[in-house]
Amino acid sequence: MSRLLLLAMAGLILCASQAMADTLKISVIGAGNVGGTLGELWAKAGHEVMFSSRHPEELTDLVKSAGANARAGSVSDAATWGDVIVLSVPYSAMPGLAKQLKGKLDGKVVLSASNPFSGRDGEVGRQALEHGVAAADRQYFPGVHWVRAFNAIGYSSMKSQSGAGKALPMFADDSQARDIGAQLVRDAGFTPVILPLAQANKGLPGGPLSGVRTEDELRKLSSGLK
Ligand SMILES: NC(=O)c1ccc[n+]([C@@H]2O[C@H](COP(=O)([O-])OP(=O)(O)OC[C@H]3O[C@@H](n4cnc5c(N)ncnc54)[C@H](OP(=O)(O)O)[C@@H]3O)[C@@H](O)[C@H]2O)c1
Repeated sequence: MSRLLLLAMAGLILCASQAMADTLKISVIGAGNVGGTLGELWAKAGHEVMFSSRHPEELTDLVKSAGANARAGSVSDAATWGDVIVLSVPYSAMPGLAKQLKGKLDGKVVLSASNPFSGRDGEVGRQALEHGVAAADRQYFPGVHWVRAFNAIGYSSMKSQSGAGKALPMFADDSQARDIGAQLVRDAGFTPVILPLAQANKGLPGGPLSGVRTEDELRKLSSGLK
């Protein structure tokens, strides 16, 4: 066998193992508009996805539409199964989830698209807005690597507005959260602009960083905000 052929084969093996290493097991807790849309995008991008809600038996159509990489499970199963957890629930569900899943998410990367609203989420939402949504997340689940993303883009735009040059803010502090969060944003079709979690309220609906922008616009806008 020629040296060139051997080198080409080694390259192919390296690419395949790299692709496998980049495949994540993503558990989506709250498989509604947002969780269903994002999970489907990630399953189609090659990740393994488990959709969950309090009624996993109702997720059959979603699993079918997301394809061979998707499955459904209970919230508890999802918390254990995924390497990465995505929370896409009404923020009022956070105290209950924190009790139900106490300790189960420790050490995992958790990406939250869940937004607090004082009207919809009552006192839980009001407190999170007042003290900062990232601080509230940490209070509910202290042992996780937090990422906040996809908070202020409508779920239908997650499919229709993705593509080259489309950027979204992503909030994370530690390197594991930043790396995996960025991969999830990219694999849903957007360019992540990474900012500290302390600024996460700015990426909530109605905040100065809401919506989809070009990477340049978003970087300029975020650097002008303090
Ligand atoms: N809609 C948007 O365009 C959009 C965009 C960005 C961010 N967000 C935010 O993303 C979150 C989800 O919004 P959505 O529009 O996807 O809502 P949705 O369609 O009503 O979906 C919410 C999901 O959460 C599940 N759920 C509710 N309480 C739960 C609990 N205690 N434990 C586990 N699962 C629970 C629901 O299923 P079961 O009732 O069967 O459990 C449902 O699957 C919200 O915080 C919202 O503000 C929304």
